[in-house]
Amino acid sequence: MSAAIIDGKSIAADLRARVGEAVTALNAEHGASPALAVVLVGEDPASQVYVRNKVKFTEEAGMRSVEHKLPADTAEADIVELVQGLNADPQIDGILVQLPLPRHIDSDRVIAEIDPDKDVDGLTETSAGRLLLGRPGLRPCTPAGCVTLAESARDSLEGLHTVVLGRSILVGKPAAMLFLEKNCTVSIAHSRTQDLPGLCRQADILIAAVGRPEMVKGDWIKPGATIIDVGINRIDAPEKGEGKTRLIGDVDFAEASKIAGAITPVPGGVGPMTIAGLLRNTVLAACARRGRRAPTAL
Ligand code: GUN
Repeated sequence: MSAAIIDGKSIAADLRARVGEAVTALNAEHGASPALAVVLVGEDPASQVYVRNKVKFTEEAGMRSVEHKLPADTAEADIVELVQGLNADPQIDGILVQLPLPRHIDSDRVIAEIDPDKDVDGLTETSAGRLLLGRPGLRPCTPAGCVTLAESARDSLEGLHTVVLGRSILVGKPAAMLFLEKNCTVSIAHSRTQDLPGLCRQADILIAAVGRPEMVKGDWIKPGATIIDVGINRIDAPEKGEGKTRLIGDVDFAEASKIAGAITPVPGGVGPMTIAGLLRNTVLAACARRGRRAPTAL
């Protein structure tokens, strides 16, 4: 058997198109586009690429993008002040502080300052609390993307056993809560879990979010399972030429794709869903701030 490939690129493009339609509807009603503020501190090359893509896709969806690029030696107090200004600015619907921040800055302190109703990354304590309590709120983008991808491969998630491999604050924990919201039976596995392969073999849906290249082998997988690979690991690829690298996931794709029912590739699986989710959250935040119901298409 050969697994269906879950095409994250096209599912993300479809979500971005639906976001674009919701933006058009909001504009017609309110005459003002939703606006996302992105704060980038320093020159980290990966962060610069992320931010460039965020700006590009925000504008493509018909929204305003407001960039704040600050030098690496900016004082924490100045970043906090900037975030407070964005909180108070009625023209801004969403605030994203690109991580990682330079080492002299306490990221938690900065994130804590973001107004939860503008927290399009879903990273504040309030957003996490709303998720845990099952209250309306902005959900973290990558875990929400995992749910969308799993839904694309299944008629229903209800009652399925989802094993989340990894317990990070950014992905594992929120993913577990989101699959619970979908009425899955959820297990969270981590480095201390006994018989990790045995537990993974029970998974109807396996979310791999550990950051260890090709850790999940073919014999960890239940035949027909849905595999969502969140890992993005850059490894040397001498076969492509000297000094070349390539991206691989946390799942051994060659082995797993022979056993799974459906699987996300790396790249082109979970990755594209993160920015699409960010745009979705920006529209949801804009709707909430304008007292409008969330579009059902989102
Ligand atoms: N750095 C890498 N990915 C992300 C993300 O999704 N959000 C933020 N804020 N920073 C990141």
